Amino acid sequence: MIVGIGDKPDSAEPQRNHDSSITQAAWVIQTHFFPAVSGSARISAHLPDIQFLMHKVNLAEKFSKIAEYWKPYIAAELNGQCIKLDKLKGEFVFHHHEHEDEMFLVVKGRFRMEFRDRHEWVEEGEFIVVSRGVEHRSVADEECWILLFEPASTLNTGNVVNERTVAQLERV
Ligand code: NI
Repeated sequence: MIVGIGDKPDSAEPQRNHDSSITQAAWVIQTHFFPAVSGSARISAHLPDIQFLMHKVNLAEKFSKIAEYWKPYIAAELNGQCIKLDKLKGEFVFHHHEHEDEMFLVVKGRFRMEFRDRHEWVEEGEFIVVSRGVEHRSVADEECWILLFEPASTLNTGNVVNERTVAQLERV
């Protein structure tokens, strides 16, 4: 329970549902950091999606909802960066990202990160960071689950636009 600063919300606004500690945490943050605003409707308007941020995420459960390969989904956002989940099988297209570095963490399986002059196998529990400007493509002989950490704006195919390009990412 995060509540502990000031009065409990129950006495202040008894009409709200306070079963959730997250609701109470949001109330505390709002009261102490946004004292000028009040009312439950303002919480969602002035705070990040606190209910989303403050629940744990189970990767296996998230991946079970992903059916397509090469279609990254957003699982979380923080500090302008995204945690994206993607299932790989087959080979991607060579591309680079002009301004962003990309991190690929293997959750399940393995894949090969190919560069123009070499390649690197990335095994389960390992990650690789591809620097901006470097051409790369992912190749997975078998299904591979990866977690990407990169800016929300990073396009999966970088400087290339083809049938694999997913411009608008969905949440999972
Ligand atoms: Ni890339």
